[in-house]
Amino acid sequence: MKQAADPASLAHYAVLGNPVAHSRSPRIHALFAEQTGQPITYGRELVGLDDFETAIEAFASQGMAGANITVPFKTRAFELAQTRRALLTRRALRAESVNTIAFDHGQWRADNTDGLGLVADLQVRHGVALRGAAVLILGAGGAAQGVIEPLLAAGVKRLIIANRTAKRAQEVARRFGIEAFAWDELVAAPATQAIINATSGGLEPEGVTMPRGFVESGLGRAVICYDMMYSPKPTAWLEAASGAGCAKCIDGLGMLVEQAAAAFAFWRGVLPATEPVYQQLRKDLAEQAALAPAAR
Ligand code: ATR
Repeated sequence: MKQAADPASLAHYAVLGNPVAHSRSPRIHALFAEQTGQPITYGRELVGLDDFETAIEAFASQGMAGANITVPFKTRAFELAQTRRALLTRRALRAESVNTIAFDHGQWRADNTDGLGLVADLQVRHGVALRGAAVLILGAGGAAQGVIEPLLAAGVKRLIIANRTAKRAQEVARRFGIEAFAWDELVAAPATQAIINATSGGLEPEGVTMPRGFVESGLGRAVICYDMMYSPKPTAWLEAASGAGCAKCIDGLGMLVEQAAAAFAFWRGVLPATEPVYQQLRKDLAEQAALAPAAR
């Protein structure tokens, strides 16, 4: 029988976001803790939109060990980490966005594990060869910016970004030295092995608005369509891709588990096995009400 950890020796973590009720991170980290025997607790904190900086400072000063940061605070977490002279990983610096902080006795460390999570899920779980590949990213917000550097580091040769608001795609393209493509002209975009949906359109009632004709000409012909969102049923974007003929449609559940494992390792120095946790989460999702909303 496992011995219960002494409560005084437990390290406490939580995910901070708004909304945060849907977050599966507490479930994932509880499974990691059980698997590795690491003495941690992990909760969720709903933070008011104006309160992020004070909330996280309070959280740290209460002796918490670390936090995950989710929508919509990742950019503010990056700014705060810089102000506090946190040790930032290169990928967090490049993404200008932070999803993982360790409070380490006042000397904060900050990372962004989202891109690593995507790359691990694509390459390891789904066997997608990224080296030398061409990839199209839809969206230019924080989610897109977080994955660009790790995709390039994995050897993606041609990375194209397209966004509903062209200016934003152009700015991101310039910053990372990648190509931008006009949203309304996506039907003419070069063929790519993978198309990644990094927009937040799936969270909106009307869904992701794809440019005219692109579902058929782009999504339907892609080797892989990857939605960074996930939901109990296939996301509307993946349904569209699959309906148009794409044979390999992947949701973001694996990315979620992989980014969590990298965060766990960042805090604890132990990398959990992700596959059993991924399978458990998949099972959880299948058991959920069919109408549960998409999440990331
Ligand atoms: P996140 O941190 O989740 O990326 P964000 O920074 O607000 O959130 O960025 C959201 C991204 O999704 C943007 O690229 C946005 O496009 P705009 O820059 O044109 O706003 C994109 N997006 C949101 N809703 C969308 C929709 N319904 N269809 C297509 N793109 C959408």
